Order: sequence, then structure tokens, then C-alpha cells
Amino acid sequence: MIRSILYIAGIALVAAHSLRIPLKKRPNAEFVRDVISGSRSTRAPLSSTGNVVINDYMNSQYYGEISIGTPEQTFEVIFDTGSSDVWVASSQCDKSCAGHSRYFSSKSSTYQANGTSFDIMYGSGPVSGFQSVDVTSAGGLAVPEQMFAEVVDASGLGGAFLAGKFDGILGLAFPILSVNKVPTFFQNLCESKVVSECVFAFYLGNSETDFGELTFGGVDSKYYTGEFNYVNLLHPTYWEITLGGVTSNGKSYTTCTTAIVDSGTSIITGPSADIAALAASVGAKELAGTGEYLMSCSLSHPDVNFIINGETYTLTAEDYLIPDGNICLFGFMALDIPEPTGPLWILGDVFMRKYYTVFDYTNQRVGFALANHNN
Ligand SMILES: *[C@@H]1O[C@H](CO)[C@@H](O)[C@H](O)[C@H]1NC(C)=O
Repeated sequence: MIRSILYIAGIALVAAHSLRIPLKKRPNAEFVRDVISGSRSTRAPLSSTGNVVINDYMNSQYYGEISIGTPEQTFEVIFDTGSSDVWVASSQCDKSCAGHSRYFSSKSSTYQANGTSFDIMYGSGPVSGFQSVDVTSAGGLAVPEQMFAEVVDASGLGGAFLAGKFDGILGLAFPILSVNKVPTFFQNLCESKVVSECVFAFYLGNSETDFGELTFGGVDSKYYTGEFNYVNLLHPTYWEITLGGVTSNGKSYTTCTTAIVDSGTSIITGPSADIAALAASVGAKELAGTGEYLMSCSLSHPDVNFIINGETYTLTAEDYLIPDGNICLFGFMALDIPEPTGPLWILGDVFMRKYYTVFDYTNQRVGFALANHNN
């Protein structure tokens, strides 16, 4: 049951081509106190990095806290490197937002109306609302005038939102993907020099007690080992890179040469023919035309390797199996993304759990290092 709810939630989001995975806030005590006491708009931050604790819900949803308004209204959001807008449920939202925290502009002294309509199409349907402006903070770092969307109809997200633990999404891709081409949260943090370095990095935990962390403005050395291998972006839209190949047992499984690194997608996706061949080779069986595959939970299934910029990134069976009772889901799913965006692979959370990833906005590159789950 867990599988069907969470997994489908993830998939709906994937299809949205925008990302959907959450994190959770780690209070940077001193600074948070400053923010709460209202000094944030008059004083530069004490530190140039901010950490958000990322919660792990069954390795399928990663979410963390942001706040909007004065006094702060808090929301759990998916920090999504596959989209570029900030949106949360609005006080004006219909029953499609039941059970979620909503933003009340009437309760915020720093709210500024805008009203431009906001419409985004997800695989499962449309989500709509309107733009507003207010102070928005994550990890103790504030953007005084962030344009965001108040969503009034989230029915297009279906079960992904209804059963989800998140109230909205904070997009971390490039501004060009923003629906109304508004400045992104991270762009604003960078341009106002709230962070001294325009990078952020994700550590995704492996269980509900292995807390994840999103660091704005730097990397956190306790969450990785060894050095970063950097890869230049193909285009600053998604975090899009060249994929050198996907192999298993010495055999190649794709001719597709593009991948995006997407914290908002729970699993790894690839072109359906490639995934079908790969699944057959590792012993996974398709769940009736869904593009999802099941397999035994044996750790003896073969490794799958991603070749990126000459480096090999290996996922073992332990890395890619997603337990569901006494059977396992294969952490790869078929998803054919049409041109011009696709075809492409999505390196989602199954990949990012194993490889701590730094997203370098200034140099337009990503860096991967082995995540340290014994931190
Ligand atoms: C709303 O924001 C847009 C930018 O997305 C701006 O062009 C427009 O003038 C704003 N409208 C109002 C009423 O402030």
C-alpha cells in the first residue's frame, strides 16, 4: 500500500517534468533567532551558509521547511532542482489543499499583492493560482521580496499532494524554467549576496533517522567522502549534463546522451526501451504497463553503472532496491520525455542518496562525491 501511494505520487510529479522532493529544516539557532526577532531585513546574515534539515518519508519524499511572511508562516516544501518556481497552498485554496498548511496574506505585514495568474501543468493535471510577494526564508536565509505563487487549485497533483507531506515546492533550477519568468529564490539569495558562494548541496538520508541536509552557500564536509568530480552543464535550464553511458555486466543500455539531476524525482528514469532492457538484465519484471518494475530483494542483483565525464558512478542492488514488504521495487522507471526537452534520463533521489551533489550556479556545473551515511 505504501508503495502504491508514495510511488505513484513520485511518478505523477516526475511526469510534471518538474521536480518534487522535500527536505527539512535544521535550525541554525543563532541566526534563526535573528530572523525571528525581525532583524533580518536590516542586518546582513551572520553566516553565509544556511542549512535546511531534509526529512525522509520512506525514501520517497524528501521535504524541508521554509517560512513566508511576517510573522513567519511555515511550510514543508519539496526542494526541487527540476523546477524553478516557489509555490505553497493559499488560504483561498479549495478542498484540493485539505490537510496542508496554507499561506494567509492577510496575516502578514510584509505581504505585497501581485495577482498575475500562475498555471503549471503536471503529468496528472493542472495546478493554478496567482503570484504574491513576501519575505521568504529557508535555513535562516531570507529573501525580503520573493515572488511566489499561492495555489488555489492543486487537484491536478492528485494523490501526490493529497497524501503528500508537503505544502508546496521550492524550485532550484534556472530562472528560464519559471512559469512567469520571475527571479528564483536561489537567484535572489545569490544576487543579494546573502550567500557568499552561489552553490547549494544536498545530502539525502537513507531512513527516517538519517536526516538529510540542504546547504545553501557551500558544501558540508561531514556528508561526503573523497573529492568532488565536476561536470559542466549542457544548458542552464534544468541541471542538465551529458551522460556518457549506462552499463551493467559490461553491456551498454542506452544511446541517450543527456541526463538531469533532479532532487524532486524519487527514482531514476530513462527511456522506456532502455529501462526495459536494463530491467530484464537485472531480473526485474514490469508491473503491467506502468513502467515500474518489481524484483526480489536479493542483494546479488548486478550493479548498474552511470558513466559521466569519464567517471563511473555505481549503484549496487542495495542502492537501487526499494523495499515494499517482501518484494522490492526496482529504483528505475520508464519515462519517455518528448522532444525538445527529452529524451533524457532523470537522476533522482536513488542516485543522489549515494552521491552527495553540489549545484554550482556561478560556474554552471554539478559536482558529485560519495555520500557519507555514517556522518
Ligand atoms: C506582477 O509581477 C509581474 C512580474 O511577474 C510584473 O510585471 C507586474 O507588473 C506585477 N503586477 C503588479 C500588479 O504588481
